[in-house]
Amino acid sequence: MCGIVGAVAKRDVLGILLEGLKRLEYRGYDSAGVALIHDGKIERSRTVGKVNTLVEALKKAPISGSTGVAHTRWATHGEPSVKNAHPHMSTVGDIAIVHNGIIENFAELKEKLIKKGISFSSQTDTEVIVHLLADSWDHKAGFVDNVKKVLSKLKGAYGLCVIHKDYPDQMVAVRSGSPIVIGYGIGENFISSDTLSLLPVTNRFSYLDEGDIALVGLDNVVAYDQSGQETTLVIEELDSVKDAASKGRFKHYMQKEIFEQPEVIENTFSSGIFEDGDHRSVLVERFGANAKALFSEVEHVRIVACGTSYHAGMVAKFWIEKYAGISVDVEIASEIRYREAVIPKKSLFVTVSQSGETADTLAALRQAKKKRYLSTLAICNVANSSLVREADLSFITEAGIEMGVASTKAFTTQLTAFILLTLSLAKSQNQLTKEKESELLKTLQEAPKLVKKVLSLDKEIERLSMDFVEKHHALFLGRGVQYPVALEGALKLKEISYIHAEAYPAGELKHGPLALVDRDMPIIAVAPNDMLLEKLESNLQEVQARGGELYVFVDHAVSENLNIAAKHSFVIEAVPELIAPIVFTIPLQLFSYHVAVQKGTDVDQPRNLAKSVTVE
Ligand code: F6R
Repeated sequence: MCGIVGAVAKRDVLGILLEGLKRLEYRGYDSAGVALIHDGKIERSRTVGKVNTLVEALKKAPISGSTGVAHTRWATHGEPSVKNAHPHMSTVGDIAIVHNGIIENFAELKEKLIKKGISFSSQTDTEVIVHLLADSWDHKAGFVDNVKKVLSKLKGAYGLCVIHKDYPDQMVAVRSGSPIVIGYGIGENFISSDTLSLLPVTNRFSYLDEGDIALVGLDNVVAYDQSGQETTLVIEELDSVKDAASKGRFKHYMQKEIFEQPEVIENTFSSGIFEDGDHRSVLVERFGANAKALFSEVEHVRIVACGTSYHAGMVAKFWIEKYAGISVDVEIASEIRYREAVIPKKSLFVTVSQSGETADTLAALRQAKKKRYLSTLAICNVANSSLVREADLSFITEAGIEMGVASTKAFTTQLTAFILLTLSLAKSQNQLTKEKESELLKTLQEAPKLVKKVLSLDKEIERLSMDFVEKHHALFLGRGVQYPVALEGALKLKEISYIHAEAYPAGELKHGPLALVDRDMPIIAVAPNDMLLEKLESNLQEVQARGGELYVFVDHAVSENLNIAAKHSFVIEAVPELIAPIVFTIPLQLFSYHVAVQKGTDVDQPRNLAKSVTVE
């Protein structure tokens, strides 16, 4: 979850590294640091807090150099402090490293090094790597061989970049569990955890494979695979990459990403639908060349994910069971990894992830691949992510880069992908007439327009958010397929506004949570036009009878019939049942966003969180 950037050039690279770090801040932002080789020495600067604090510190005490590494941290071992910030350096200052990931056996390695008389200046796991390097460095061996020797002692997941003062025009990068990309310039080269950070300097990239180690010089990059054999890196040119690092006319990335949803939902479904005159059909091959044959055999679906992506899986369960008639279970990745879960016959293992690098989701996929699942599928927003590379089948959502830590457009595009998966499964199993398939796809195509309509409620929702600034708790209610939408609403509110929020399927209230309801407890409910509306209505009346303050997002088609006196009710354009979970998510996202803005929290980078959770 930390971000790494490195550069080897013939010019001063400090500016490149700092700009790279700013673009990587979504990965972690507890502290930041940079180390540069200058006149045969390594100079370093580190600060607690965001990259701008480092930029200010460097204005007062500048450093420079044409080879260097930089890091933005999300603390795992040791609190955010200058001492714990990366780069870490050897005692005599000849080596500097930056690291993303966790060294699981660091305590044992540290103890051995301390016994040898080596003293540590931080509480991090990373520092053992730099001392191991210094302790075993053989000046007759090459840069790569010296690094390789140490890697064999490390257990855990890491992406690493190392510089040594004796190699002023080179750096060594390693990928073992955490992604590393190499960026190619002219007479200069770069490394990073993510292409985004290097877009100002190049659009040509290679992705290291698991276990690869690369020697990056001014004019060439030499890579070795896990077995030590030299390997050829394929260079990909990213053309016309939209620069996601710009907020445009918006105040926050999250706000921009909420408003991008009509477009990205459309981008996600358009490559999965074939239109012939008035008839629409789903392109099952969008999931992989052999998807149709595989899907025809599926008897069970297991969806595994974390956080918001897990909520998308919970919605998908309703769709797949209803339209394809296949039973589905949905599991939290960090839980199923450690359980002896029974694998039903012919089960399709589906992982969902925005980043494709979430440690628990990836580990669950790797485990599943060793077990007797029919096949594995990744629904993911990052095409070159580990999850996509390792799953048998894949579907890339077209959300574009998501910078806000709180997931918004990734969620609604995951839901879009799940509708296409549902129809692909149903079609491959002959569960769907051609007419029904066409009708459901037509409904999906209405989603962007309806989402746009809800976005126009922005100002009204902003006014509502003012009621919540002084609140400490909130309860979200939904029924059926809207329960996961309520869960997602509660997650958004708590993660960016720090208001404690819970979500319940409304029928569960009287089994305990109703005890919490009083005048200080606002209740936010989603009320679409579905068969559970009447049930929801009685649940809401129960809340009202206990003095709870109701805020209801209700479908236009039923708003007149709903017999409750909500403090505020927001009428949403009539929404077809299939896409109601996508459309009803939008007001909840806007609501959380505005509450957070009113409260003055850091919307895009809320405390204690990071965008890509690459540690367990
Ligand atoms: C919440 C959020 C997280 C992620 C979770 C999984 O807004 O973003 O809950 O959904 O960390 O991440 P991915 O989808 O990248 O696997």
